[in-house]
Amino acid sequence: MNLDEALKARKSVRAFRPDPVPLDLAREILELARLSPSGTNIQPWKVHIVAGETRRRLEEEVLAHRETRPADANAEFPRTSKRKEPYTTRMRTLGKAMYGLLGIPKGDEAANWHQWGRNYRFFDAPVGLIFTIDKDLDAMSFLDIGIFMQSIMLAAKSRGLDTCSQGAWNNFWTVTRRVLNVPGDEYIVCGMSLGYADETQAVNTLIAEREPLESFATFHGFA
Ligand SMILES: Cc1cc2nc3c(=O)[nH]c(=O)nc-3n(C[C@H](O)[C@H](O)[C@H](O)COP(=O)(O)O)c2cc1C
Repeated sequence: MNLDEALKARKSVRAFRPDPVPLDLAREILELARLSPSGTNIQPWKVHIVAGETRRRLEEEVLAHRETRPADANAEFPRTSKRKEPYTTRMRTLGKAMYGLLGIPKGDEAANWHQWGRNYRFFDAPVGLIFTIDKDLDAMSFLDIGIFMQSIMLAAKSRGLDTCSQGAWNNFWTVTRRVLNVPGDEYIVCGMSLGYADETQAVNTLIAEREPLESFATFHGFA
């Protein structure tokens, strides 16, 4: 798969087969992502690659915490759930398409709660990644993490694997920090599921719409 093909084929997968991802393959993907650029080459990314018993324990403890202490669900660093247009509409369009495929009707809070909780099972993927960053760094370094994550997603895709980035993992950071021994001077920025897509699941047929080039690009100075 060349780069264009990988860019076009990558999409967020939210149902995985249980087939394991060999350690060597995970390492190969990360060896490529290591080559990602970063501002002044500080390479701020840190990542926990979680499989097997640790993954099981992380899932179990986060879900147990979520059941009993929902108030702890805020992200550790500032985030907002308030969005203005056009973002609200885009978000709702995605949600409508996804929940439609899952057969979850609008307003079914219990089903919603359950489905969102699947984030903390890494959507059954055998491997989860938890990205962290030094708290001293600023927003520019969060960009570097994003670039690093995209490198992982593309390297995975070109090897027949799928991914789903998961901001959901910066909630319940107290539990994640404890289970993975993440130092107190690092933020838990994001998570990611990694594995093989379960193509029988309707949710994986979701194609998230994209806006046309003209809606975001302003060209200057071309003849
Ligand atoms: C930083 C980031 C965080 C995300 N967090 C979540 C998440 O917590 N749960 C989820 O199901 N999808 C999550 N996504 C996936 C997005 O919903 C998805 O990338 C977007 O709808 C575009 O669809 P596509 O990835 O299939 O092209 C996240 C994506 C990014 C880039």
